[in-house]
Amino acid sequence: MTKRILIFGSSRNDGNTSKIVDYLKQSLDFDLINLNDLNISHFDYSHKNRDDDFIPLMKKIIDYQQIIFATPVYWYTMSGILKVFFDRLTDCLTIEKELGRKLRDKQMSVLSTSNDDSQTEEFFLPFILSAEYLGMDYIGNIHTWLENEKIPDIVKNRINHFVKLHLTN
Ligand SMILES: Cc1cc2nc3c(=O)[nH]c(=O)nc-3n(C[C@H](O)[C@H](O)[C@H](O)COP(=O)(O)O)c2cc1C
Repeated sequence: MTKRILIFGSSRNDGNTSKIVDYLKQSLDFDLINLNDLNISHFDYSHKNRDDDFIPLMKKIIDYQQIIFATPVYWYTMSGILKVFFDRLTDCLTIEKELGRKLRDKQMSVLSTSNDDSQTEEFFLPFILSAEYLGMDYIGNIHTWLENEKIPDIVKNRINHFVKLHLTN
């Protein structure tokens, strides 16, 4: 069975992204990492932060074949907390190259959440290009939203289709 991990990067643990992730959990088996539970500081060129939670998290992540990022749309891009994680991937190209190499051929997918269906494909570009740079296999993305705090049927269908098409083959 494919080992999957979902990296959750919203600024609130009980918000819209969390509701979408809960729905996804009904049809997909994955372990979850909530970046809010970890102490991961901004990228530091002199790596004084090498003892925070980033490297241990990466050592855990490389045990998984599929990595799913779940983020709200904040100012047209991924959440700040997830961007800090992505900046820190630079550690895997410098002081932890062996870890970086282990990311190769792992599958990446992205789930975004906002308040409507207006998401453009440009949103996913940083993920697509980062996957390419890291030698990862980008398997797709899905945009979701809530209406009156509920997941509309169209979004549920989209998630179900995405799971079937991309995540469980
Ligand atoms: C700081 C911030 C910035 C946002 N920027 C955008 C945006 O650029 N585009 C958009 O469609 N929605 C934007 N939103 C709305 C969120 O994407 C939307 O409410 C999302 O469902 C929030 O998910 P969360 O509850 O997990 O934070 C923003 C919300 C916040 C709090």
